[in-house]
Amino acid sequence: MKDQPVASARIARRSPLVGTLRVPGDKSVSHRALILAGLAKGVSTITGLSAGLDVRHTRQIMAAMGVHIDEADDARDDQPVGTLTVTGGDLHEAAGVLDVGNSGTGARLLAGVCAGQPFRSVITGDASIATRPMDRVVEPLRAMGAKIDGREGGRFTPLTIRGGQLHGIDYTPPMASAQVKSAILLAGLFADGATIVRERVPTRRHTEEMLAAHGVDVATEKIGGGSVITLQSGPVMPGQFAVPGDPSQAAFWICAAAAIIGSDVTVENLYLSPERSGFLDVLLAMGADLEIDRAGGTVRARGRELQGTVVSGEQLPDLIDEVPALAIAGALAAAGSLDFQDAAELRAKESDRIETVAAMVRALGGRVSTGQDSLTISAGTLRPGVVESHHDHRIAMAAAVAACGLTDVGEIEIRGWGAVATSYPGFLSDLENLSSVT
Ligand code: S3P
Repeated sequence: MKDQPVASARIARRSPLVGTLRVPGDKSVSHRALILAGLAKGVSTITGLSAGLDVRHTRQIMAAMGVHIDEADDARDDQPVGTLTVTGGDLHEAAGVLDVGNSGTGARLLAGVCAGQPFRSVITGDASIATRPMDRVVEPLRAMGAKIDGREGGRFTPLTIRGGQLHGIDYTPPMASAQVKSAILLAGLFADGATIVRERVPTRRHTEEMLAAHGVDVATEKIGGGSVITLQSGPVMPGQFAVPGDPSQAAFWICAAAAIIGSDVTVENLYLSPERSGFLDVLLAMGADLEIDRAGGTVRARGRELQGTVVSGEQLPDLIDEVPALAIAGALAAAGSLDFQDAAELRAKESDRIETVAAMVRALGGRVSTGQDSLTISAGTLRPGVVESHHDHRIAMAAAVAACGLTDVGEIEIRGWGAVATSYPGFLSDLENLSSVT
């Protein structure tokens, strides 16, 4: 097996997953590290950056806007991008369009950055990005004073942003989205007055945490079940950015190992805040055998017979990217069904994940039902089949780990395997290290 992007992968039935590993650098943190180091005047260092294509696009975009990035020759297998030395703080208009590739995080966070710059930027991406809603950031950024044009009135990319003099807003996003929150906070760095984002359901806090660690006055207040983030404009300070391992990538190994008897997997060096580790709570509710060291960032999962559970809308932001991996655990469970409710946001991801997760499970012989905002996976067994990734890296990887839980001999063909390169180029090597063909 090779790690190069390929049109399709054929993965023969494999043994349960056994071993210890470190997964790639966190994608969310990697985008933010590049953006904040690029905004900070002076020299910063970044270690552990994700080697995925999504993050590479953000790196190229920051460079195109005048950020100087040098890479040291100290890359390792578990850290494939060498230490970066980033000299930032002096952005200028890029000579070409800003191509985010497949990355919604890149598109939306960079829209926030560009809204604060006194020049014109054009943000575009691949065919999937062209279908993803951008009005969720365009509307608040316009309310802050940015001039933004885009396809269908700014609902979709390409977006043309003329930034400049912004003013802070007090905004309650209609959906739970860390990308929306982050775009507004990044624009708020360049605004007059305070910028306030009110989240009905809290989402991942990387932007606030990383801004605070780099000298920005940003405070979070918990109110009821939600949170209110208040940011005062000001400079980002340069410094060190250490990117931890990505829990969303660890989820493929942990969810599959938890459901497949005979598995015993330990993943190290993870960032395990509550907003990134909701999938562990779901697995525990399903009866999984997990040892979790939150402070140390280590999770050990041993295979056991799992039961179904219900995942409510309030829980969803804490596991929004882990649904494809959890679906495999649900499909391989011993009894019950795994039921995601109030889950309409799944339709706005790299693919429509209510439909593509359902199609993946069905293609492998599992039973699923879907509603406009719900997805229910029944316990059972999985068999060989052909899965379309729909250019969605997480569908491809979820289908791949299912090969370790097949009852029948055979293979899973995953069409559109190349999508995996957006986030986890070394996935097949890790699969090879943790299991063997049976
Ligand atoms: C991300 C936030 C989430 C998540 C995405 C990364 C981020 O998106 O699905 O993969 O880094 O802020 P939403 O904010 O749109 O839910």
